[in-house]
Amino acid sequence: MALVTTTEMFKKAYAGGYAIGAFNINNMEIVQAITETAAQLRSPVILQVSAGARKYAKPAYLTALVDAAMKDTGMDLVLHLDHGGAGLDKEGAFEQLKNCVDTGFSSVMIDGSHYSFEENIALTKRVVEYAHAHGVVVEAELGKLAGIEDDVKVASHDAMYTDPGEVEEFVSKTGVDSLAIAIGTSHGAFKFKGEAKLRFDILEEIGNRLPGFPIVLHGASSVVPEYVDTINKYGGKMEGATGIPEDMLRKSASMAVCKINIDSDIRLAMTAGIRKHFAEHPDHFDPRQYLSEARDNVKKLVEHKINNVLGSAGKL
Ligand code: G3H
Ligand code: 13P
Ligand code: ZN
Repeated sequence: MALVTTTEMFKKAYAGGYAIGAFNINNMEIVQAITETAAQLRSPVILQVSAGARKYAKPAYLTALVDAAMKDTGMDLVLHLDHGGAGLDKEGAFEQLKNCVDTGFSSVMIDGSHYSFEENIALTKRVVEYAHAHGVVVEAELGKLAGIEDDVKVASHDAMYTDPGEVEEFVSKTGVDSLAIAIGTSHGAFKFKGEAKLRFDILEEIGNRLPGFPIVLHGASSVVPEYVDTINKYGGKMEGATGIPEDMLRKSASMAVCKINIDSDIRLAMTAGIRKHFAEHPDHFDPRQYLSEARDNVKKLVEHKINNVLGSAGKL
């Protein structure tokens, strides 16, 4: 087993009308829950690491955990840098991406969405040239999502749908391997005030303009109501938390979307498990007890996503 790129995965996912789950990892329990479940279901999976995760767990621990997961499950995995460059200037962004390529990541995202179109192209192209020379694939972003992008807070009035008229020029000038687009999803656990709405017309037009090209959906947690309810029941305060309805995610996976990013749902699953455990066992103080319940919740979540949202079971 080895770290692999997303190239073959996306080709098969595009042709098969399903998507690969890209789950954010921050600690051992999360890595185990995702990879053990994916292995059981014979599902391809992407493990992604944000700048925040690297700050929290330290890069060496995260890569060692992914290595251990490959040994334990016998699976090939993708190790992806999520929102590369966020919160850094262009030189800092390039150095961060270069460091990830040099330390064994098989896929990186350069998030130049807050720059002008021309600057985004120039930065992305520079990263693509370095990454491709080292066998690493690159995801870029066009358009701006609302919510928290690593260290960068993007206000909802700054969010901007992707302009389909720009995608062909962007992809051909940068040579990028996949493209994250903004069609109404957003990061975090509070995505919509009213009814959920995604711009499938934009996704369709992008799919027509870039036939066979893999599109990525960020901010794609469903904010699973069961976990929000459990959190609120056991002392949490998450009233009004809402995510992307599952039928919308399934529809996007049947279109050009090949990668669906999920972080907030993992956070909710863990928090619900821990809050419930503390409420039911006030005498427990061994982290292995409450972290087991948290890890079990993440396993159930990943199983549900693979079977009912992504459609990637048995596609390994
Ligand atoms: O897109 C953002 C991800 O959810 C990562 O969040 O920077 O808090 O790790 P984080
Ligand atoms: P969520 O906050 O919806 O889980 O999105 C995660 C994400 O896009 C990571 O890049
Ligand atoms: Zn994201």
